[in-house]
Amino acid sequence: MEVELKRLEQEAESALAEISRVDDLEPFRVKFLGRKGLLSSAMRQLGQVSPEDRPRLGQLANEVKQRVEQSFEEKKAAFVDSAAINRSVEDLSLPGRILPFGKLHPVTQVMEEICAIFEGMGFAVAEGPDVELDHYNFAALNIPEHHPARDMHDTFYVSESILLRTHTSPMQARIMESQDPPLRYIAPGKVYRCDSDITHTPMFHQVEGFLVDRRVSFADLKGVLTTFTQRMFKDDLALRFRPSFFPFTEPSAEVDIACVICGGSGCRVCKRTGWLEILGAGLIDPEVLKMVGYDPDIYSGFAFGLGVERIAMLKYGIDDIRLFYENDLRFLSQF
Ligand code: FA5
Repeated sequence: MEVELKRLEQEAESALAEISRVDDLEPFRVKFLGRKGLLSSAMRQLGQVSPEDRPRLGQLANEVKQRVEQSFEEKKAAFVDSAAINRSVEDLSLPGRILPFGKLHPVTQVMEEICAIFEGMGFAVAEGPDVELDHYNFAALNIPEHHPARDMHDTFYVSESILLRTHTSPMQARIMESQDPPLRYIAPGKVYRCDSDITHTPMFHQVEGFLVDRRVSFADLKGVLTTFTQRMFKDDLALRFRPSFFPFTEPSAEVDIACVICGGSGCRVCKRTGWLEILGAGLIDPEVLKMVGYDPDIYSGFAFGLGVERIAMLKYGIDDIRLFYENDLRFLSQF
């Protein structure tokens, strides 16, 4: 039995030494160390040896089994290590993984383009808070408490006197109360309204623009907005000024451009009118000028607020504004 155990150990060690493929490890384990393997069946024969020899041979059999197990584990570990080394070597020979480049969101791209056009016309850029005081969003713009015009805005209130700004026009009041004319500013940013359909989202972007100086007229406003649309779109794009009402401008207008989705023939985006509204504008109401301490007999100004998503829709021919905010990379990566 003793001789047989030593022979088995030698056979196992030399079989292990010959193993050069990881796939051969498991057959080895089954043959020598498995429940029905050679070492286990040798140990089962211990029952047949004399009671005096049994403890010594039993101990020897255990020692042999432990040594073979240990050699087996070492061999296995060597395979794991060399596989790791091989893997890192292999990685070095592979072409590098190309990381996709991120892009600016289409609304951000259009926003930057709009700002660049106005900056080219001498407008400075200012930014204000999204969470705004009721005072700047409404009262300072000639919309006192209980004025029906507040209903047009579908406002998200944070508290009685604090809200998410519904437009970028509060920046008119904020800038005018801290600076004297002449002023020529644009104020881009996010605005919020409880509103959602194919041309409205609850969060959208506006660019406010205003100019205050002596003898500013509606013709100046028309000139600036016409230049803007010509630079943003193609030169011959039709533009129309529609009479409108804003409490902070007088006279007021809304500006539409010919729907680029249907070419003006009428579709669901332009609600079959052939036109899409992109901005509201007008001459700053003398009441607003008085509230910030300007003399309306000396100074006049114009202001406008344009919807950035609407311009992006027209620029890229997108027929549902909500696509901008669904975060679908198949859509966003096209721009
Ligand atoms: C205003 O917000 C005025 N503050 C604009 C203004 C500024 C007038 C200065 C006079 C002087 P209005 O609510 O019409 O106006 O919005 C302006 C533009 O924002 C719209 O023409 C439209 O292009 C866009 N807009 C309005 N609501 C949404 C909405 N829910 N989703 C996307 N775009 C919108």
